[in-house]
Amino acid sequence: MAKITSVRGFKDILPEEAGKWQYVERIAREIFSDFGVQEIRIPILEKTVLFKRGIGEATDIVEKEMYTFLDRGNEYLTLRPEATASVIRAYIEHNIYETAPSAKLFTIGPMFRRERPQKGRFRQFHQINVEFIGQEDPRVDAELIFMLIHFLKAVGLGNLNLEINSLGCAECRPRFRKEVTDFLMGSEDSLCPDCKRRLTTNPLRVFDCKVESCKDILSGAPLILDFLCTECHKHFDDVKGFLKSLGITFDVNTKMVRGLDYYTRTAFEITTESLGAQNAVTGGGRYDGLVKLLGGPDIPGVGFAIGFERLLSMIPEKDEVFQEHPHIFIAALGDKAQEFSFLLCNSLRKTGIRAEMDFSGKNLKSQMKRSDKLNCNYTLIIGERELEEKTAQLRNMETKSQESVTIDSTDSAVDALQGLIYKNEEEGA
Ligand code: HAM
Repeated sequence: MAKITSVRGFKDILPEEAGKWQYVERIAREIFSDFGVQEIRIPILEKTVLFKRGIGEATDIVEKEMYTFLDRGNEYLTLRPEATASVIRAYIEHNIYETAPSAKLFTIGPMFRRERPQKGRFRQFHQINVEFIGQEDPRVDAELIFMLIHFLKAVGLGNLNLEINSLGCAECRPRFRKEVTDFLMGSEDSLCPDCKRRLTTNPLRVFDCKVESCKDILSGAPLILDFLCTECHKHFDDVKGFLKSLGITFDVNTKMVRGLDYYTRTAFEITTESLGAQNAVTGGGRYDGLVKLLGGPDIPGVGFAIGFERLLSMIPEKDEVFQEHPHIFIAALGDKAQEFSFLLCNSLRKTGIRAEMDFSGKNLKSQMKRSDKLNCNYTLIIGERELEEKTAQLRNMETKSQESVTIDSTDSAVDALQGLIYKNEEEGA
């Protein structure tokens, strides 16, 4: 029968990779906790209207990339393409703003976008997403970025480029939008078909276009920073000042608009050359109108999302570093030895020792091979004679030295092995 494969752009995370995922998640949780950020777990399926309204109808994500279907209940549902809209939906739905007006929330999980799969770009990918909701103080933007960079460095990333921009607010952006539209109208015929359409639907999206001729046209376009109102200007200056005082270097990229419509004021991206074409490992920014837009009170917010797969591809260490291999393999020879070893193996696991054995009854040589393959620190060899003499040999797989271990009962064997394994672990540490 023909085998069934996974969906294009959807990837399995195999056991040998999972250790690296767990490592990164562990560091994220530790660091976020130091900054008072709490976890929120939200569904992967939402009403389509949430993303249409939150991200914006005339964005690439909503226009072309969402996995949307009509549910049996005759309602359009969408596999979330990002987490911010969902987090804000939950923040409003559960009145979190009443008990925690300034909430710091993180969530980690899969997102879905039907883009063309390529290196660093998948249709199911994962994000580490953080939102600081409730404060418009520029120190909050700086603190968020500070935490992000601290985290990226903690998992081993170097050579990061932080680019920031301000996208203005509901007051100053319309003037910029008009200016850009007028400017682009002059070159309408030279724009790609998508950008021609964007000119009427969402002209700022032209800044995201990857087509060279559109990029050329944009080289002389008006710049948002020249249109900021006094408050937005001050906010941006303050964010830059606080970043500097926290020792964070950055470049201002006046052309960065980000691909989601909810952004206001601060926008930022972290890129790295090692990722190639899909070089953004993190994107984020402020969204002061989003809570209101989604039906909540007028509450500001700022956040970011890190692409998990892209982050992992940049972590220098080899995957093996993140693998927990067994402490001990029990090579049991003969039925009685197998019986005793089965109990011993499971008793050891209860005490926190990672133990493995083989039920196939193979000879000592192949069991030793298996222990080697699993990268076990020790092998305990138990045959009929060992059971009779109540003593077995514990072989250190690295030094090849052997020690005797008393095995007159499961409990005494557990005690003896625990002592030896932990003692040697401490000495080796
Ligand atoms: P975004 O820039 O669309 O922002 O995505 C953030 C990150 O997710 C990107 O920088 C990239 O690393 C990763 N990413 C995006 N699409 C893919 C893909 N197809 N395959 C692999 N990785 C991908 C947002 O999603 C916003 N919600 C971020 C945010 C949070 N803004 C405020 N709060």
